[in-house]
Amino acid sequence: QRTAAVIPAAGRGVRLGPGAPKALRALGGTPMLIHAVRAMARSRAVRLVVVVAPPDGTAEVRRLLDEHPLPDRTELLVVPGGDTRQESVAAGLAALPDDITCVLVHDAARPLVPVDTVDAVVEAVRDGAPAVVPALPLADTVKEVEPGRPGEPEPVVATPERARLRAVQTPQGFDLATLRRAHEAVAVSGEGATDDAGMVERLGTTVVVVPGHEEAFKVTRPLDLVLAEAVLARRRA
Ligand code: CTP
Ligand code: MG
Repeated sequence: QRTAAVIPAAGRGVRLGPGAPKALRALGGTPMLIHAVRAMARSRAVRLVVVVAPPDGTAEVRRLLDEHPLPDRTELLVVPGGDTRQESVAAGLAALPDDITCVLVHDAARPLVPVDTVDAVVEAVRDGAPAVVPALPLADTVKEVEPGRPGEPEPVVATPERARLRAVQTPQGFDLATLRRAHEAVAVSGEGATDDAGMVERLGTTVVVVPGHEEAFKVTRPLDLVLAEAVLARRRA
């Protein structure tokens, strides 16, 4: 099996606040995207990394990648992304050569995922699972609400049993043909999706969960950046 990683990095990072596109923000002095690319390249299984760049930032991304070389065994491609994460991932999938059979989809916004987590996902796909997600149990109880007007209290509809819930991370791993089929089906139906495995579920294909890692958290809000800097400082100590 030949494995590639697609890294959607075309988001603006609205929730992180004003500034450069999120993937290009520095973490320990190095752009978040570079950390994410290295995290994929660290896995010996990954031979090709496709970075999906902000459409107006492909030249800058290419320059950053040139400044931060990868191990020789890792090939790199840069393609422009789209308006949604789903479109960006689809652009990355379209760029994959025919000999790829296993694909990882990894958020640039999860720069600190450990290589053991990446390897565990690859291994589960190689063992025959068509779709694999790393995930962790939740710390908080989750409520489903009936969303109301902004500022109004929202009535609770249900409280799912916490022990059965998992918070899903990336890299998510797929048999490439399966993920391509899922993206085509979603494009036809016009429905959106916030995660790739969710699209595969809609095909009726079973998605399996492997243990995620606390350090694979997504940098979404300013506090996440504080945590990421602290994790990196601890690693470097
Ligand atoms: N992403 C992408 N193309 C988009 C939107 C998102 O490639 N049109 C990528 C982001 O760059 C990120 C990953 O998808 O690596 C996860 O998305 P998220 O954390 O939501 O990032 P943003 O969309 O950039 O952040 P926000 O939603 O706060 O604007
Ligand atoms: Mg987003």
